[in-house]
Amino acid sequence: MKSMRSNVSPLQEARSLYQPKLPKALSGIPSKVAVKFGKGTHSISDRESIQKLFANTYGQPEIFFVPGKAPASMNKPLKVALVLSGGQAPGGHNVVAGLFDGLKKLSKKNSLTGYLGGPSGLVDDKKMEITDKLLVGYRNTGGFDIIGSGRTKLETHEQFEAVRKNLAAAGITALVVVGGDDSNTNAAVLAEYFKAHNHPLRVIGCPKTIDGDLKNDQIEVSFGFDTATKVYAELAGNVGRDCLSAKKYWHFIKVMGRSASHIALEVALKVHPNICLISEEVAEHKWTLDQIIEKVARVVAERAAKKMNYGVAVVPEGLLEFIPEMKKLIAELNDLLANNKEFEKLETAPEKIAFVRDLLSYESKGAFHALPHSIQAQLLADRDPHGNVQVSKIETEKLLIEAVDLKLKHWKREGKYDGKFSGQGHFFGYEGRCADPSNFDADYCYSLGFTAAYLVAAGLTGYLSSVRDLLRPASHWKAGGVPLTMMMNLERRHGMEKAVIQKALVDLKGKPFKAFAAARKKWALEDDFASPGPIQFWGPTEVADLVPETLRLERGK
Ligand code: FBP
Repeated sequence: MKSMRSNVSPLQEARSLYQPKLPKALSGIPSKVAVKFGKGTHSISDRESIQKLFANTYGQPEIFFVPGKAPASMNKPLKVALVLSGGQAPGGHNVVAGLFDGLKKLSKKNSLTGYLGGPSGLVDDKKMEITDKLLVGYRNTGGFDIIGSGRTKLETHEQFEAVRKNLAAAGITALVVVGGDDSNTNAAVLAEYFKAHNHPLRVIGCPKTIDGDLKNDQIEVSFGFDTATKVYAELAGNVGRDCLSAKKYWHFIKVMGRSASHIALEVALKVHPNICLISEEVAEHKWTLDQIIEKVARVVAERAAKKMNYGVAVVPEGLLEFIPEMKKLIAELNDLLANNKEFEKLETAPEKIAFVRDLLSYESKGAFHALPHSIQAQLLADRDPHGNVQVSKIETEKLLIEAVDLKLKHWKREGKYDGKFSGQGHFFGYEGRCADPSNFDADYCYSLGFTAAYLVAAGLTGYLSSVRDLLRPASHWKAGGVPLTMMMNLERRHGMEKAVIQKALVDLKGKPFKAFAAARKKWALEDDFASPGPIQFWGPTEVADLVPETLRLERGK
């Protein structure tokens, strides 16, 4: 079908014809899709407390869709609501398409309503019907713009009641929440709330985030990670080539990933930069900012000794919060400045810096003082709606360039370094979040959405759509559902113990980190940059159907 939008590129036009692949179990007729139940499950830890909090949804079995006789519930008419939550991730539109197609395959009478602008759309009852015609321009495209996304957290009783009332008034049978660990924790809470209040509404989640930190034994990867990291790796590879050609700059590339360093690690495995910092390693060894700068500067100096005054360093977005003294400083600033009326009256950076300096503890004063003026100002300028420092907006790449430069100047005076250092900072984040999904993400997302439709039809609630065995061809993927409570543990949030889906940080004992650690010395001192190039949608399978390196290393034999 030809797109109705005028702003469609030739590539988009051709790509819109791609028919994503599905696991074999779901590609046949619905009456031949059976539900296989596994054993009852438990949360990762804190079983008793989580069971108490989720008395109605805790401990459900994992399920898989297999060939066989479909349950009678599969025939019941379904009116499904959909909400996209949090940061965009490539493939979101294919989740919508898969969910829509799955519902329509089950029955032409089934319908899908999209709630607009994220979870706030559920509270404010802002919605639109998703139709085949609407989907034409969105299949296999990046972005969440079909219905928009948002970061409103559903937390209060009033919000839950508003959602319940709005969905009930619209005759909705089930809600599908596409989101990361926090949004799916919310989905679990909503599922429990509806069950506890004898409301028949069901809730199903879908694992999204480019950050790659919603994964565990059951969820092999969150959608969007593959495409986003392919985009960053393409850009970083290009920078590597430029660096090798000009031989005059050190490029410091900050890559997104709010907390975990999966993106930085994946980019490093694809591109072989001279340096890649992994926040989890920093935290494990309790490295101070000065120790990190020393390590980076040492690589710069060693390369300079070989007349290589250039290089590429990859820096994870969340780095600062993993450095113990910075973590403490940020926590203090958050406490000091939240709702601080006096501070809010101050306009200039020097005024703010002077105000804060007097209030910080002795240790944090030292940490603050060690930061360049520009970073001190950023720490105080950008605050989120809760009054917290927006660490992701701190220009860590520039901080490192400035601090390494200072260290090298110092070493030069001492005769320990003889080279030239000229830094260039980059931040790759938004460039990757809405890219057209790779073949892997196009198929994976479509399958996740399709699976969500079948989970709803099977009458389940409190489940995360899951598609596994991702290293095999798509037809062999296993589709099913994982109980949301199975992925939970208790964590301290805002001074209180809360049941949340556990965030996966980089495992320093895992194969991806070990592969990186084994190669980094060579990458540091040689020019070993690889150029992954742009995502390929057509062509030989070893080029067009690549899966994330992290996944290959973690799940490969
Ligand atoms: P999600 O966890 O919601 O998927 O978002 C991930 C992310 O892309 C992070 O990598 C980044 O720090 C953050 O979103 C930026 O979000 P925003 O643009 O809303 O500040």
